[in-house]
Amino acid sequence: MKRFPQNFWWGAATSGPQSEGRFNKKHANVFDYWYEVEPEEFYGQIGPDTASNFYNSYVDDIQLMKEIGLNSVRTSIQWTRLIDDFESATVNEDGVDYYNKVINEFIKQGITPVMALHHFDLPVELYHKYGGWESKHVVELFAKFAGKCFELFGDRVKHWFTFNEPMVIVDGQYLYQFHYPNVIDGKKAVQVAYNLNLASAKAIKVFKELGMHRKDAQIGIILNLTPSYPASQSEEDVKAGRIADLWRNEMFLKTAIYGEFPEKLVELLTEDKVIWESTDEELNILKNNTIDVLGVNFYHPSRVKAPDISPNSTADWTPDRYYDQYEMPGRRMNIDKGWEIYPQALYDIAINIRDNYKNIKWFVSENGMGVSKEERFLNDSGVIEDDYRIDFIKEHLEWLHKGIEEGSNCFGYHLWTPIDCWSWKNAYRNRYGFISNNIHTQVKTIKKSGYWIKEVSKNNGFL
Ligand code: BG6
Repeated sequence: MKRFPQNFWWGAATSGPQSEGRFNKKHANVFDYWYEVEPEEFYGQIGPDTASNFYNSYVDDIQLMKEIGLNSVRTSIQWTRLIDDFESATVNEDGVDYYNKVINEFIKQGITPVMALHHFDLPVELYHKYGGWESKHVVELFAKFAGKCFELFGDRVKHWFTFNEPMVIVDGQYLYQFHYPNVIDGKKAVQVAYNLNLASAKAIKVFKELGMHRKDAQIGIILNLTPSYPASQSEEDVKAGRIADLWRNEMFLKTAIYGEFPEKLVELLTEDKVIWESTDEELNILKNNTIDVLGVNFYHPSRVKAPDISPNSTADWTPDRYYDQYEMPGRRMNIDKGWEIYPQALYDIAINIRDNYKNIKWFVSENGMGVSKEERFLNDSGVIEDDYRIDFIKEHLEWLHKGIEEGSNCFGYHLWTPIDCWSWKNAYRNRYGFISNNIHTQVKTIKKSGYWIKEVSKNNGFL
């Protein structure tokens, strides 16, 4: 029997914009807006309007989460739902009432609510007016919004996260065109990365000023860590791996934990003349407002090799001038999603955190397997037999367990996601849940993996 530490979090994660639906929401976030203007950009032309209907069905949905043994669940508070006026952070009464009810329902069902403040859902007005995360004014507005959330819900929510995967915002909005406004601009990407780090630190500063630690609360950030494995041990490949790690992982990880950007990254960006604008006061805020706890989203490793063409070629600056993706022969894939399956990386992450990041308290805040057309696996009783998902989770947990046994301070595992939910441009293409969702009827049904996790949670481990 592989047993996990006492009070281990067995749970799952979703987000406001992906589960609630737009019902009664006064403002649009960047995805709401993008769908309004270019619905054809979304898989099956399905947008966020209904999502998994959590706004209306949260009582039944939380009941199902309880039924499969989840003891903690993450979602997020939508800035565009809670706030009426972004400048003054005046609240929307319906939004406050809704989040109060959701939080109370989780607690009533014995599920610890875990809240993120931002899951890719920038209010679109703040992009059109100020350039969104390019703007330090928006950073200020985010800190105000965060403060409101702590004041309103901090008596019951004890686990807060400033951002989910800030790196994906940088990638999606400023480099690889999968988040509105689909800009390609390396220099802006660098400034946005800095501003997101600053926004997180400023929210933590407000958290402290409001005395939240004295109320037994803790705050962190959720980072998608994709360890970079070089194609070979040649000097060039190893260097490519190093730079990929600096940019993709350490730019947020080191800053969140040590309050300082990685020196080598600052050197490289300075040399390339794309370094961000910062002030001493801001750097001080970053230094003094580090996280208490870390969430790690892990789906797949990244394999890199030295770039085929020289970084000094003529082109606008982007970070991937320093590395190319390496297609490793024989790699094990989840073909539906196009991601490599490499569970051992979770062990490597655990040991890296133990040895290089103060052995900070952390949990797996997302891991999971997106599979298309899961109706293929329906049995006669109408249950999706997702054995592939059970195997996937188990293998990841085995490696995680090894990391914990060797001293890494991990306190939980959350699957993406409790109930199949809407996923940005991919809409409902890849299903990840313990519970399926018929998007035409909104009928939700527990999958085989849901029954399996119930046992794991009950036994605090598995054979
Ligand atoms: C995670 C995000 O990285 O990936 C989620 O935090 C997202 O918001 C999930 O839904 C799955 O993405 P996709 O594109 O496979 O549906």
